[in-house]
Amino acid sequence: MKKSKGLLIAFEGIDGSGKSTIINNVYNLLSSKFNLLKTREPGGKSDVCESIRNVIVNNKLDSKTEVLLLAACRNEHVKTFIKPNIENGISILCDRFLDSSLSYQGYGRKIGYKEVEKINDFGLDGFRPDYTIYFDIDFDTSIKRISDNKRENNLFDEEFKKMYSLVLEGYRKIIKKNKKSYIIVDASKSIEDVTNNVKEILEKILTEHYENQ
Ligand code: ADP
Ligand code: TYD
Repeated sequence: MKKSKGLLIAFEGIDGSGKSTIINNVYNLLSSKFNLLKTREPGGKSDVCESIRNVIVNNKLDSKTEVLLLAACRNEHVKTFIKPNIENGISILCDRFLDSSLSYQGYGRKIGYKEVEKINDFGLDGFRPDYTIYFDIDFDTSIKRISDNKRENNLFDEEFKKMYSLVLEGYRKIIKKNKKSYIIVDASKSIEDVTNNVKEILEKILTEHYENQ
């Protein structure tokens, strides 16, 4: 019998929307029931990917350098970790993927959707997540969460706010284009509520997928 492939499930949303927290929670709840791994971008599961991440997050880069490094990092992540695991029947929960570059670099940094897509497809060649779970939240709530966490100190400057309103607008346009594969969750609810909501969504997707193969 042909072996079932795994699914790539991406999690998207602005910083502070709760992606990492909820991915950890649902992974802990579901990994004994399904063949699952979790990972994140920029970065992933190898020293090369994490080294590229460090360059990206620790330097103020020209926006074109940034988009190219993100695409290189993603290509390495897909070729060395995501695809081999999917081929082996393992489903991947990925904290951010291509749509982060489309919204942050394409719209936020104004490089352009088509340009960012083309740069990424040099490596991805049309490879896309099977599903994307979008963490819907307003800017003020996410900023409050991040500043409560004392992770950043430049969060209230005007340039930062302008960029984030463009990123949010970008996500809305991307969701409109990809209605079939996007699932929107209300990320403003409590950690417990969002965890339960995402757990139910994943259980349904994964059960149907593995039963139908
Ligand atoms: P992201 O990965 O999207 O940037 P995080 O998971 O790192 O977001 O969460 C940012 C901060 O908000 C953390 O301090 C986390 O504990 C908190 N947080 C996450 N989800 C919620 C929630 N649903 N309600 C309140 N606080 C949350
Ligand atoms: P991440 O570690 O996911 O931050 P957070 O947990 O706050 O969501 O990502 C680091 C930053 O990199 C974040 O501000 C989003 C940005 N980013 C891009 O601009 N483009 C991309 O393609 C990716 C993957 C991340």
